[in-house]
Amino acid sequence: MTATSPAETSADARFAVPPFAVISGAQVQEALLGREKQIMDLVEATYRWHGAGDSVNPPSYFLRFPDRPSARIIALPASIGGDVRVDGLKWISSFPDNVAAGIPRASAVLILNDHDTGYPFAVLESSIISATRTAASAALAADRLSQGRPRPTRVGFFGVGLIARYIHTFLTGTDWSFDEVGVFDLSAASAAGFQGYLEQSGAGGRITLHGSAEALIRSSDVVVFATIAGEPHVHDMSWFDHHPLVLHVSLRDLAPEILLASTNVVDDVEHCLKANTSPHLVEQRTGNRDFLAGTLDDVMTGRVDLPTDRTIVFSPFGLGVLDLAVGKYVYDEVARAGGLHVIDDFFHEVRRYG
Ligand SMILES: NC(=O)c1ccc[n+]([C@@H]2O[C@H](COP(=O)([O-])OP(=O)(O)OC[C@H]3O[C@@H](n4cnc5c(N)ncnc54)[C@H](O)[C@@H]3O)[C@@H](O)[C@H]2O)c1
Repeated sequence: MTATSPAETSADARFAVPPFAVISGAQVQEALLGREKQIMDLVEATYRWHGAGDSVNPPSYFLRFPDRPSARIIALPASIGGDVRVDGLKWISSFPDNVAAGIPRASAVLILNDHDTGYPFAVLESSIISATRTAASAALAADRLSQGRPRPTRVGFFGVGLIARYIHTFLTGTDWSFDEVGVFDLSAASAAGFQGYLEQSGAGGRITLHGSAEALIRSSDVVVFATIAGEPHVHDMSWFDHHPLVLHVSLRDLAPEILLASTNVVDDVEHCLKANTSPHLVEQRTGNRDFLAGTLDDVMTGRVDLPTDRTIVFSPFGLGVLDLAVGKYVYDEVARAGGLHVIDDFFHEVRRYG
C-alpha cells in the first residue's frame, strides 16, 4: 500500500489519501452470514437518522436504453451520518432477460467515499448488499407494522426470485416462524426453485404452490410482492378482505384502488412517489398524497398509529443510505478480519506538484 502518509499531505491526519480496497461478493456474503438481527438493527437506525435529517439522499437516476427497453441501470448517490458517516454511490443494473439465461437479473457495485477527503476508499460487490438491505427493511417492516395484530402465521410470496429468497431468510433469521408458506409465480421453474430453497432452509411450515394469485393472497396474513411487473396486475379488492400486511417490495403490482382501500406506509415519500410506482399512480389519479399514512420511521417513532382492521401496504422505494450503511458494516468487518484486498498505487497523483 503506497497511499501517502498524513505527514506528506497535511498536518491533519484526517486528510490522508486512504488506501483503496476491492471487496468481493464472497467476502460480502461471509461478512453478512447469520447477521440478520444486527443488520435489521442497523437498517432501523439508518431509517431513524434519515428521518431526523442526518442524511442526503437525492432522487435515484434511471439510465434506460431505447434498444433494450426492459433493461435499466440505476444510480443511487447518498450520504449517511449517524454512527456510519460515509458517502457513496450504488450503481445497480436490472437486465430481466438474464434470468432466462440462468444468471441473476440484477448486478451492482457500491462505492464508499471517505467523509473527510471525499476519496473513494472501497468498491464492493453489491447485489448481495442490495438484497440484504431490502430484506432487512422488509423484515423490520413486518415486525413494526404488525404490532397490535395477532402475530401472522401464514406468509405468501408473490414472485419468487432472489429478493424473495433473501426476505424469507431475513424473516426466519429475525425470529419469524410460519405455519404456512405460500408461493405464487408465473414461472413454474421459479416456483419450483424457491420450493427447493424453502425445503433445504429447514425453516419449516407447510409449503403450498398456489395456482392463482387470488389463492395466494386470500390464504396469507403477510403477502410479499417481489415480481418484476412494470404495471399493476392485481386489481380485485375482495382478495384483501382479511386485511393482510402487504410488503410491496416490487412497487408496481397493486392497482390504485387497492392502495386507496388500504393504509399506506412508505420508506420515503418523495422517493416513493416517482417512477410510476403504485403509490405514484395513486397520486397521479387523486392529485394528492392524502392516501399516505406516513413513513416506516413515523410508525417506529409513534408519530403514526396504524389501524388493525385495514390492509396495510408497505411500499419501500429502496434508499441509497441503506446500501451505504450495510456496505460500511461489511467494509469494517472485512477490515477487522484483515481481509481487505488493497490495490497498490490506485491513487497515484497524490502530490499536487509531483
Ligand atoms: N424496493 C426495493 O428496495 C427493491 C430492492 C431490490 C429489488 N427490488 C425489486 O424486487 C423485485 C424482484 O427482484 P428479483 O431480483 O428477485 O427478481 P427475479 O427476476 O429474480 O425474480 C422475479 C420473479 O417474479 C416473477 N414474476 C414476474 N412477474 C410476475 C407476476 N406478474 N406474477 C407473479 N410472478 C411474477 C418472475 O417469474 C420471477 O420468478 C424487482 O422488481 C426489483 O426491482 C426492490
